[in-house]
Amino acid sequence: MTAPVPEEASFFTAVGGEPTFRRLVDKFYEGVAQDPLLRPMYPEEDLGPAADRLTLFLMQYWGGPNTYSADRGHPRLRMRHAPFRVGPAERDAWLEHMRVAVDSLGLPAAQHTLLWEYLERAAYFMVNTMDPTEPAR
Ligand code: HEM
Repeated sequence: MTAPVPEEASFFTAVGGEPTFRRLVDKFYEGVAQDPLLRPMYPEEDLGPAADRLTLFLMQYWGGPNTYSADRGHPRLRMRHAPFRVGPAERDAWLEHMRVAVDSLGLPAAQHTLLWEYLERAAYFMVNTMDPTEPAR
């Protein structure tokens, strides 16, 4: 006998699991790699490890494995962004690349909207300065 199908599969599973999140984040970082405002914010030469952290975080958030927290502990994302200057311009650049990445997945409309609206909210929440002249904290 086959195992019963859970009544409510996670969003993680519904959109295709890890490969979908890898595609999303890889596409996003293709944009970041070319971005004059965002690229210098990433301390490492290789964007691979940062891409991995974002992928694992998003997988966990949407009901996939908890590998992110096993490796990194509680997300505390606002705190982790505190060393970086995240103003409206950085937020908008981040969202621009994320929009291209989300669109590239070709998800059904309901899933597309759910994912995009979450990312948009999260990006607004991450803003930690409104002052364009204030240096990074
Ligand atoms: C609003 C504009 C944003 C900017 C400019 C930004 C920038 C950055 C930078 C420079 C890092 C450090 C790179 C690294 O070593 O991982 C980082 C880390 C990270 N960001 Fe963002 N971020 C933004 C929004 C977001 C949003 C909306 C999310 C989640 C939905 C997110 C999730 C993460 C995660 C999970 C990490 C790795 C944290 C860790 O474990 O150390 N970021 N971000």
